[in-house]
Parts: sequence; C-alpha cells; structure tokens
Amino acid sequence: MEPEIEINIFKSFHDLSLMAARLFVESSSQAIAKRGRFLVALSGGNTPTLLYQTLAGIHYRNQINWAKVHAFWGDERCVPPDDPGNCYYQARLALLDHVDIPTDNIHRVQSDLEPASAAIDYAHTLKDFATPPLDWPCFDLVLLGMGEDGHTASLFPGSPVEVTSPTVAVTANYQDRPARRVSLTPLVFNSARQIVFLVSGGSKSETLASVLNGEYHPEQLPAQRIRPTDGEVIWLVDEAAASKL
Ligand code: 6PG
Repeated sequence: MEPEIEINIFKSFHDLSLMAARLFVESSSQAIAKRGRFLVALSGGNTPTLLYQTLAGIHYRNQINWAKVHAFWGDERCVPPDDPGNCYYQARLALLDHVDIPTDNIHRVQSDLEPASAAIDYAHTLKDFATPPLDWPCFDLVLLGMGEDGHTASLFPGSPVEVTSPTVAVTANYQDRPARRVSLTPLVFNSARQIVFLVSGGSKSETLASVLNGEYHPEQLPAQRIRPTDGEVIWLVDEAAASKL
C-alpha cells in the first residue's frame, strides 16, 4: 500500500513552525485519549528549534499533558549530553527544561558511549516500549528533518537501504556537525502512526523536489526510505524550500 503523503507549503518558517506545534498538540491529545500516552521521536538539527520553543511557550505548553509524553530521538550525535551539538541537549534547552515532563519519560540515547554500544543500548530502550510483535514502539509522532544531501535522521546517502536492526551506528560528515551518531532505522520510522518532516530554506529546494517528485532512489536520497506501512507522512515546507516543486 502506498503511504498517505500530504505536502503543506507555508509563506514563512514561522508559520511552518506554528503548524508543527498545532500538529504536536493534536497528535498528543489523540494518543493520550486512545492509548494513555504519547510516544514521540524528536529530531536534531536547527529546523525544529522554533517548534520546540513554541511548544515551551505558555500557549502551547498548557495544551499538552506532559506527564503522559515520552520523548525519544530519531537520531543522536555521540557527544556528551551537555555538548551544544547533542540533539537531546538542544531539545532540553529549547523545550524539555520548560515543561513538566517527568525525567523518567525522557529517553535519550546514551551519547557518551561509543556509537555501536549506544545503538545497542537504545534498541533495548525501544524494546521496553515495544508494540508486539515488533521489538520497538509504533511512535505516535516522528519529527524528521532533511539535509541538503537528502539525508534524514542519520540515514545518509550510500548507507545500506536494507537493514534488520531498529538502530544503527553511523559515521557521517555533514556540515560541521558531530560525525559519530546513532540513528533509528526505517524499520522503526515506517512503523510510526504519523511522521512530520520540517524543511526550510532554498538550499534544500532541489533535493526536496527530487525526493518528492523524482524517481525512487533510496540509496542516494534516504528521505525516500521513509514510507510508513500504515501511517501518514506530512511535509511542512516553507516557500523557499518548495520553490522547485
Ligand atoms: C541531525 C538530524 C538531521 C537533521 C538534518 C537537517 O541530528 O543532524 O536529525 O537529520 O534533521 O540534517 O538539519 P537542519 O534542520 O539543521 O537543516
């Protein structure tokens, strides 16, 4: 079955972030009403920061039952958890430190370990929230970004498309970011109920057009590997990023 894909284009990055905040609120309320908890995989990078700050603001913060939210990460950079390049740290500063999420509900990657050990450890964390027969949870919401090279999470061009484990250790050079990483794999992403991509800026426009409208080349364009079995994919894109669609 082809995944359900929706593309929303916004005049500004600010509008895009507001819509992402609304989706987050809606998704959390539905999940908590139906299943008693909200399992979300956060992303790193610069793009989600405004979303995180918006969610931490008084208007949105009070619309979410943080006691029932469980935060995970789609990928992590293996640097200490107080390093500015650490995805957990970035989310903490912008969001988690400002809301009443119980510490036990924050499931960070043990990023001070070697990537291979951190990946194995994170697979165990996922297993604690597994939806049998899977060894990992069906996330209610996964937030993802996309790099100028078409990577998403830490699934980079040229990395294996067929994987059998829920997490992988990765070495990847992208911009000046930490290279040693852990990523969830498409096995996990594609079990999610809802996946929201946030993409902003003209430098991503060509790649975005190839990912969404070009031929299927999942080796070179890892964002194309995201095709949930039953869930939906929503792309929130600003006009600059959408200019070649
Ligand atoms: C990371 C990411 C990565 C990111 C893209 C886009 O940890 O680096 O999760 O996949 O989403 O590189 O990054 P920007 O939002 O900064 O463009």
